[in-house]
Amino acid sequence: LRVLVLAGGLSYERDVSLRSGRRVLDALRSVGVHAELHDADTALLPTLMADPPDAVVIALHGSTGEDGSLRGVLDLCDVPYVGCDARSARLAWDKPSAKAVLREAGIPTPDWVALPHDRFSELGAVAVLDRIADRLGLPLMIKPTQGGSGLGAAVVRDAAALPAAMVGCFAYDSTALVERYIPGMDVAVSVVDLGDGPQALPAVEIVPRNGVYDYAARYTAGLTTWHTPARLEPAVAAEVAEIALAAHSALGLRDLSRVDLIVDEAGHPHVLEVNVSPGMTETSLLPLAVQAAGLDFGALLGSMVSRAAS
Ligand code: DAL
Ligand code: MG
Repeated sequence: LRVLVLAGGLSYERDVSLRSGRRVLDALRSVGVHAELHDADTALLPTLMADPPDAVVIALHGSTGEDGSLRGVLDLCDVPYVGCDARSARLAWDKPSAKAVLREAGIPTPDWVALPHDRFSELGAVAVLDRIADRLGLPLMIKPTQGGSGLGAAVVRDAAALPAAMVGCFAYDSTALVERYIPGMDVAVSVVDLGDGPQALPAVEIVPRNGVYDYAARYTAGLTTWHTPARLEPAVAAEVAEIALAAHSALGLRDLSRVDLIVDEAGHPHVLEVNVSPGMTETSLLPLAVQAAGLDFGALLGSMVSRAAS
């Protein structure tokens, strides 16, 4: 099998993607798969056409890597890949669309408003806060509707912090997702399919040292501690797994995903988002869950690659 691992690209998460790509490459090679790394640049298309690989693993994060457009190109070139199709990627990538689908499916997700930059400028920060706080209360979570790795995201605990948070968010996206902030335990559930249907791996509990799981906390060794499995009552852990699987299938995902949730103080899980191209770096959550489940990361990827290529 000859596999192309796509990493890099021109998104805000390029550096993260390069780290994911290298780890995926090493893992595939460790199980004897002939894998090469390729950037998602203009040389990609000629490479795919001239010498099509048996399968592609997408280790790209952000924009084209995650929003389905690259998957569309692979479909066009008739090159199989690990993971969901273009349509599902696009759906999961756009947080308001994904949340609407989750809610429709009866899966709990925090209340939200999607606020375009034009509307924000037109109304002004004070009016926006009044209207949104009326509806959602405080604190609020502000994040780009399309983005990842915590870039442009902030918790707003009081009105005075709103303008800066909105400006930070609009640096990354023209529409902000304003969400009710639910205090509780941050957990991530990786969903993987080894050929016999999707299964939820043990939930990883995320404890950022400074209380916020931002970009630095995600990718700097030592800034976050994890508990795997998460310190949850067995009944809550079972519900978290069930909800993660429900979210994965509601969005039509395939092979692998990572469902990020908050378990509130009463023990109720709420889905924050579902990642179709989860981080695979040394400090990322899916590889950690794979290891905690007693699985081999390389063997897992190898089986997905074989399935995609067959
Ligand atoms: N967006 C990053 C890579 C993640 O979800 O892990
Ligand atoms: Mg994400």
